[in-house]
Parts: sequence; C-alpha cells; structure tokens
Amino acid sequence: MAVIGIMSAMHEELAAVLAAMPDEQRVQVAGRDFWVGHWQGHSVVAVLSRIGKVAAATTATVLLERFGVNNLVFTGVAGGLGSGVRVGDVVVADGFVQHDLDVSPLFPRYEVPLYGLARFDAHPALLAQLRAASGQVLADAALHLGAGTLAEFQLSAPRVHQGLVISGDRFVSTSAESHALRQALPEALAVEMEGAAVAQVCHDYGVPFAAVRTISDRADDTAHTDFRRFIREVASRYSLAILSQWLSQRAPD
Ligand code: ADE
Repeated sequence: MAVIGIMSAMHEELAAVLAAMPDEQRVQVAGRDFWVGHWQGHSVVAVLSRIGKVAAATTATVLLERFGVNNLVFTGVAGGLGSGVRVGDVVVADGFVQHDLDVSPLFPRYEVPLYGLARFDAHPALLAQLRAASGQVLADAALHLGAGTLAEFQLSAPRVHQGLVISGDRFVSTSAESHALRQALPEALAVEMEGAAVAQVCHDYGVPFAAVRTISDRADDTAHTDFRRFIREVASRYSLAILSQWLSQRAPD
C-alpha cells in the first residue's frame, strides 16, 4: 500500500493540507508533529519539514522509518536562479545538489563522500505526475489565486520549469551570492534549503521522492514586497492545488 509523505516547508502550506484531510491524527516524534490520515482516499502523513538540511533530513528519516512512508513529496518556496525563472513561477525539481558541500580536494566539489554522486535525481514517475499537475494548476492560475492576487503580485502567465534545484544552509539574499551560484552551477534553476538533503535520505532508503517549489524571490537584493503574504496568498494555494490535482489523478491503493 502506498503511504504518501507530504513535507511542507511552511506553516501556511501545512495548514492548507490539514484542512483538506478529514481525519488527521497527530503523532509526535523527535519534537515534530506528524499528521496521519487520508486525503482523497490516499494514506497520507503530512509534516512541517523544518528549515535547513539537517532538520529536513531528520523529518524525512522519521517519515520513512516510523510511518512507513514509501512515496515522498516536498512543497515549498525557492529563490529563482535560472534566467526566465520568475517570482510566481513553479519549479519541479528533476535533480538536487548541495551547493554548500565541498570536500575537495579529497572528493570532487559537491560530491557526497562515499556515494560517488553530487546529484540525486527525482523519481521519474513522481516527477512527471507533479509536473503535469503543476501545469494544469498554473494554466488556470486565476482560478486558484483569484485575479486580484495575480494583479497584486504582478504574476502574468506564470510558468512551470523543470530542472536542477540546489540546496544549502543559507538563505541567498544578495546578488553577489546568487551570481556566484549561477557561475558555479549554471544549470541550477532555483535555490532552497532542504531538497538535496531529503533526496539523499530517500536515496538511502530507495524511496521515490520529488519536489515542487514556488519561486518567491530572485535570491538577490530585491526584497519581496511582502514575503508572508506571498506565502499565504500564492505559494500555499499553488501547493494545495498541485497536490490535490496530483492525488486526484493517482489511483488509490
Ligand atoms: N527559499 C526561498 N527563497 C530562498 C532563497 N533566496 N535562498 C534560500 N532558500 C530560499
């Protein structure tokens, strides 16, 4: 039986998921609240990821070890790095790299020691499903956000991108740093703080993993008008709609 883990980066996203689950029960492990129940007939465990690679890796490990999660999906926000990746777009990750991992000269830059890998791939089927669901939601963004919100955040024709997402224990908020990341990892579309760590845990356990990130900023000096409001009015609504669309198209088992 599939047990789907949903890791949300933000409280607002988790609250929206919990509102959609009719029967969730709280189980506390490792100081975290895990919400066990159903959504659209699927067995689901929803949890706040917490911020940063170690915290998210702990959360993921508990999901797999204690709750028998065998499909894991992450939703949250990210800073856009790729050209054409704009605030309000969605990036579906097809691979993950830790941009702050450097054990050179003992191992090549970014390589995770003893894995022989720098990049962990998203699960192809899960990725394709989430990409399709994201495309369906963004094709009618006004339906999910409302025309007023689209106008307020100047989101015209938001797009879905697929590509590399990079993770590190830093909130990237200067043009100098995002420029350096673009130089070092030119194929990266977005930067966040958890995905590559969770991907590594899922690799260890052989559990399918994929992630969807709404772009909340350009990882530079341009402060977003109202970050919390963007999370509430845009990112959380996208996450809910994308997950709901994805689950509605998945056969329950
Ligand atoms: N999450 C959202 N925006 C981010 C940024 N600029 N850097 C790291 N994580 C993020």
